[in-house]
Amino acid sequence: MLIYLLPWSFFLLTLPHSRAEKICSQVRRMSFIPIPENSDFPLENLPYGIFSTADKPQQRIGVAIGEHILDLHAVAHLFNGPELKNNQNVFQESTLNSFMGLGPKAWTEARKTLQDLLSTGNKTIEDDTDALVLQSEATMHLPAKIGDYTDFYSSIIHASNVGEMFRGKDNALMPNWKYLPVGYHGRSSSIVISGTPIRRPIGQTRPNDAEPPVFDKCKLLDFELETAFFVGKSNPLGSPVPVAEAEDHIFGMVLMNDWSARDIQKWEYVPLGPFLAKNFGTTISPWVVTMEALEPFKVPNYLQDPEPFPYLKHSDDYNFDINLEVSIKPGDSEKEAVVSRSNFKYMYWTMKQQLAHHTVTGCNLQPGDLLGSGTISGPTTDAFGSMLELSWRGTRPVELGDGVTRKFIQDEDEVTIRGYCKRDGLRIGFGKCTGKVLPALPV
Ligand SMILES: *[C@@H]1O[C@H](CO)[C@@H](O)[C@H](O)[C@H]1NC(C)=O
Repeated sequence: MLIYLLPWSFFLLTLPHSRAEKICSQVRRMSFIPIPENSDFPLENLPYGIFSTADKPQQRIGVAIGEHILDLHAVAHLFNGPELKNNQNVFQESTLNSFMGLGPKAWTEARKTLQDLLSTGNKTIEDDTDALVLQSEATMHLPAKIGDYTDFYSSIIHASNVGEMFRGKDNALMPNWKYLPVGYHGRSSSIVISGTPIRRPIGQTRPNDAEPPVFDKCKLLDFELETAFFVGKSNPLGSPVPVAEAEDHIFGMVLMNDWSARDIQKWEYVPLGPFLAKNFGTTISPWVVTMEALEPFKVPNYLQDPEPFPYLKHSDDYNFDINLEVSIKPGDSEKEAVVSRSNFKYMYWTMKQQLAHHTVTGCNLQPGDLLGSGTISGPTTDAFGSMLELSWRGTRPVELGDGVTRKFIQDEDEVTIRGYCKRDGLRIGFGKCTGKVLPALPV
């Protein structure tokens, strides 16, 4: 041990301080639970989710670690810090809403306790293996009761692409777009957990602008590559959240597929925006990655010009380097084909700005509300976040390999979104957000 430690300490002394600290913390914190290489869930992640098992169908809170889940229902009594010792009941609920509502001091304390409990040398849980469940033996559920759901439109590349297709290059962005984070109030009842099949919708479309509309199956079904964040602490009706305090209300993030019926959307959206084109299913990933886990992956904000109004202005970085990837697996194939590689860092508006804008009227947000990013497209044609953009409105087929192509999503296609962060040898991930398309009901 000495032989191992000595050269290390010497090496650390010669490094600049912050980098030495980073490496040091990785050397220090190991878990007694095996973490496979490239796992999404090392000790530095610890995302929260809701799970059940065949022998214990009760839905309960868990934390992902390697290939396991730590059952917080079973270890709630171990949260003994000043913030949580009188709030241990939040870990015995069947959703994360109450824990989310406690706010950042409680979240930090919970994270520290969990890192202690799961570290090598701490025998508390190692000796009580009933609290550990294999992820492969668990069924995941929605992390929270989602009271309200809002979806933004905050990727400048996505908004420009869609604007260019429908209004031409010169009018791609609407005049309001760089002044406020555009969004709409969505439908929370049809948000489903990863793995839930999605039925192709039926509705009114107008395939030919010279003819009357028709009632038929959706023919232009699409995915949207998004992330979303869960609101933590609530704000009372009438009390806007200042942008400087917005962070205290942001609990953590998930991956999201905002399934979209492009043909229904095109006919219905004027003048009030998306409606039935978006309400037949929205898929989210089961593990909520906390903002604390994402902290090491902060990158500079997107340069905003014109300068935002003061109520939206913050100078600290609140942008994140999260690699995002979409793949499609046709129903008759075993192979997934990656169709897009994008990154959260291409977002124009930050989550703090979205939250400050959402509440500026005094609108009250509740723990468990979900706020989506909007489709996140990167700058190259292989980084676009929807089939609408990847196939450029159906004008260029997207290759899936073996001669198979897609312009939009077909029945039995399975669409999977993955996300991960990587920096200085540290990697954390989101798991996956997946859904298979079922054929429409008979028209
Ligand atoms: C294990 O972690 C818990 C929670 O932080 C702590 O109370 C306990 O003292 C730790 N045990 C050891 C042996 O470090």
